[in-house]
Amino acid sequence: MKIKLNKDNKDEVISKAVEIIKSGGLVVFPTETVYGLGADALNENAVKNIFKAKGRPGDNPVIVHISNFSQLRLIAEPLSGLEEKLVNAFWPGPFTIVLQKKDVVPLSVSGGLETVAVRMPAHVFARELIEVAGVPIAAPSANTSGRPSATTGDHVCVDLDGKVDLIVDAGISDIGLESTVAKVVENKVAILRAGAVTKEMIEKVLPEVEVFFSNKKEDLDASPGTRYRHYAPKAPIEIVSPEKMAKYVGELESQGKKVGVICTFQNEKFLHSRASIFIIGSQEDLKEISKSFYQALRFFDDHAVDVILCESFREEGIGIALMDRLKKATGKF
Ligand code: TXA
Ligand code: MG
Repeated sequence: MKIKLNKDNKDEVISKAVEIIKSGGLVVFPTETVYGLGADALNENAVKNIFKAKGRPGDNPVIVHISNFSQLRLIAEPLSGLEEKLVNAFWPGPFTIVLQKKDVVPLSVSGGLETVAVRMPAHVFARELIEVAGVPIAAPSANTSGRPSATTGDHVCVDLDGKVDLIVDAGISDIGLESTVAKVVENKVAILRAGAVTKEMIEKVLPEVEVFFSNKKEDLDASPGTRYRHYAPKAPIEIVSPEKMAKYVGELESQGKKVGVICTFQNEKFLHSRASIFIIGSQEDLKEISKSFYQALRFFDDHAVDVILCESFREEGIGIALMDRLKKATGKF
């Protein structure tokens, strides 16, 4: 069942959602990044049902969401000085940190690892839900495994309607891409997944510390989610530089292909074709583009195109996370 959140029904929705969480059920709730598919993180059975609803491989661990620091002490070993500076700087917000877990956290949450990924979300509804439930909430993104994350209530329903007990629809997610996942390793910060908290932002908080994107096999093995094909729309997707887009669309159309194009409004005017076009925002505004990115991928699921061509974006700031998701959606990286 889906309920639209409005200014009058918040308390009612919270108590309904809390009742479900406490009895071991599944609730889809909004966060500032993407929608989350939540269950009581300390209830092994409830967590197993998350994996079933998503069709997710059991070795891919989920993020535990908290609303206060006593929940953090409950699930993770004490923080190092560096870890403390990071969470103080970026919580609540789109930042997840991988910590040594305590025994109360079921191995189904951590995918068998001795670590647990923890995030305190900024979204007010999400935090209130966790606070009133009184337990940390395990929540991966609310999509079928391998598909683009859901950033609207309707997109959640496409993947999960009938598979969960409640969907709380609070409109479009603010950021639109999943949180940054980081881990402190030997006094350095490894970014395991890029997000809205950028490398530069982390370096500003820890000017003396090395911060790096981790592509190493050891680190990726420690973040199993990075191994699977992700964020994939139904049609194959290719990345095309803005200058080459018009010519390439023409070539594919002359082969009789139905083409979908994701582009910025600066480049739309160059396309004189029959392609279906999703205008994703302005080249100048990478945040706006990130916010609509998963909506764009899912838009073409209903348009029966043979191929989706997506413009490439500037790899700076949140553009790094954006290009990471786009490359993974092509399945070639
Ligand atoms: O923004 C987000 O992070 C959203 C919202 C709902 O909070 N959640 C989300 O969860 O994106 P999910 O499950 O789709 O992605 C979790 C990522 C995966 O890449 C997983 O491998 C990594 O975090 N992860 C989880 N636990 C980990 C651990 N113990 N060690 C290393 N990586 C971990
Ligand atoms: Mg996900």
